Amino acid sequence: MTEAGLAIIGGTGFYKFLDDARQVQVDTPHGTPSAPISIAEVSGRKVAFLPRHGLNHDYLPSEVPYRANLWALKEIGVRQIIAFNTVGSLQPEYRKGDFVLVDQFVDRTWGRPDTFFSGNAAAHISSAQPYCGRMRELAAKALANADATVHPAGTVVVIQGPRFSTTAESRWFHSQGWHLVNMTQYPEVVLARELELCYCNLSYITDYDVAAKEVVGDEEAEAVSHHGVLRAFSADAGRVLDMVRRLVEAIPAGFDCPCRHALEQART
Ligand code: ADE
Repeated sequence: MTEAGLAIIGGTGFYKFLDDARQVQVDTPHGTPSAPISIAEVSGRKVAFLPRHGLNHDYLPSEVPYRANLWALKEIGVRQIIAFNTVGSLQPEYRKGDFVLVDQFVDRTWGRPDTFFSGNAAAHISSAQPYCGRMRELAAKALANADATVHPAGTVVVIQGPRFSTTAESRWFHSQGWHLVNMTQYPEVVLARELELCYCNLSYITDYDVAAKEVVGDEEAEAVSHHGVLRAFSADAGRVLDMVRRLVEAIPAGFDCPCRHALEQART
């Protein structure tokens, strides 16, 4: 069933993207996705949209049905994913309001189902370059003239949540040189690779986490809060949607890519 070749996964605050969309409910061997998948045409191309947390922020980061979401998208023909996340900054050169095309993660989550494989159907994918390099390159070009600072790379540390980090944790992440902190980039990215999908991340910086003195030299900067993240996103939602639309227009359908062959050297 080919309904759409490209999908957008929305993050906190980002629950709707497509107008006049058709809704598709897909059940999978891994359960039901976070929400029905919306499908509509954008610039002549069929695009799918799935809000990661559900339509009303129904799922905690550790409870998001990541496997069902990815499986369902592949089932309807999706081969390329643009995943959106809000993130906190851990380094001074990454400013609130900037966008980042993340290229590496550090996984600090636990207990999340993070593979489709088991037992005698095992496979070991490479995570050396976990995000699709081709899509990231195309995305960086597409956003080069946008009215925003776009970092072409960045490392995100993914925490378990739902709580935000302690000051000690945040200082540690900062001292490691990691750029960003978030709760949902893992395991989505590696599940996409196991399904041989191209997966590109666009992150939007909403805050300086809780070690703002180290990050921006400002002791008084507001520590991250859920309402602060939602406020920062909604104040700039128009620009976020514009950036995502630019990416949809810039990513050609159906190019070959190493992501499409991820399992060739992975099976036991
Ligand atoms: N999402 C947005 N900002 C965040 C932060 N500071 N920590 C974890 N997840 C986030």
